[in-house]
Amino acid sequence: MFNRLQNKWGVSTRQFWIIFLIFGLTGTTTAIFTRFITGWLGMDASTSWVWKVSLRLGMLLFGYQCILLFYAALLGQWTFFWKYEQKLLKKLGIIGGEPAVAPKKRAISSPLPQTARLFIEKGMNAPIKPPQTRLAIFASGTGTNAEKIIQHFSGHPQIKVALIVCNKPGAGVTEIAQANQIPLQMIDKEPFFRGDGYTSQLKEKNIDFIVLAGFLWKIPETLINAYPDKIINIHPALLPKFGGKGMYGSKVHEAVIAMGEKESGITIHFVNEHFDEGKPIFQAKCPVEADDTPESLAQKVHRLEHTHFPVIVEQVVTSALLK
Ligand code: GRF
Repeated sequence: MFNRLQNKWGVSTRQFWIIFLIFGLTGTTTAIFTRFITGWLGMDASTSWVWKVSLRLGMLLFGYQCILLFYAALLGQWTFFWKYEQKLLKKLGIIGGEPAVAPKKRAISSPLPQTARLFIEKGMNAPIKPPQTRLAIFASGTGTNAEKIIQHFSGHPQIKVALIVCNKPGAGVTEIAQANQIPLQMIDKEPFFRGDGYTSQLKEKNIDFIVLAGFLWKIPETLINAYPDKIINIHPALLPKFGGKGMYGSKVHEAVIAMGEKESGITIHFVNEHFDEGKPIFQAKCPVEADDTPESLAQKVHRLEHTHFPVIVEQVVTSALLK
């Protein structure tokens, strides 16, 4: 029950319990105040019920709400409770229109869907977590990484793989999308490179993050600008070595072996306008043995990818939400 409520409110566990505390404190304080005012006004058994009910209603409609906001401000939960109050006033028909963001609080403008707007309070609080962050995985190969990511986020309360984007009809990843009942969008070169890079379609589908898992086309600037620090790629080597145009698949492993490298690995990084040059996020290494072939090295690297990529994606998405 608590989990459902927490998800409904879209708050962190810590914030959830602070909210509970505020409700508790407000109830108690209102009761004490009501008793105090009753005594102060000299109300007793002989007082007309009309006065008693009026006082209680007044305390509930006005006193309780003021006390609630007082504790909310005191415990750094103004944004949450201000929105709550606005909703209440709207329901009671006292105010109309959409609830506004509380003054001095910042609404992050991000590609998050309407329901997933992220409000950050200045000061002590963990931000309110949006109900769901939607990932699109771009892949054009067999899709083993895509599959691992799908499995990792299956049943996740806040992150969902909402779309698979593929530019290669018949690629293994298309079957993975179907098997997991994830919508698949096939894309074409022309609109990708000369149109808006499918930005509008992705926004329409409320995609918040893009994960490249074996996607070979260069990401157009329009898309990069639409998703700043929200496009993550994995490269099967230790960048900055063995990256760049034409460095993909077995070519990477062949080059690593040809150069006599003692270790290789994976690099997870943000995507910018240059191939494999965006800000690095994470690297993991594996040894390159004397008898390694491109195939055996590819297997080691794949193992690293499957172990780390979903976890790192989760960390990046979660920490972006906390910013
Ligand atoms: C991975 O090796 C990844 O590093 C690279 O493309 C490959 C995709 O493999 N970007 P898979 O299709 O996920 O098996």
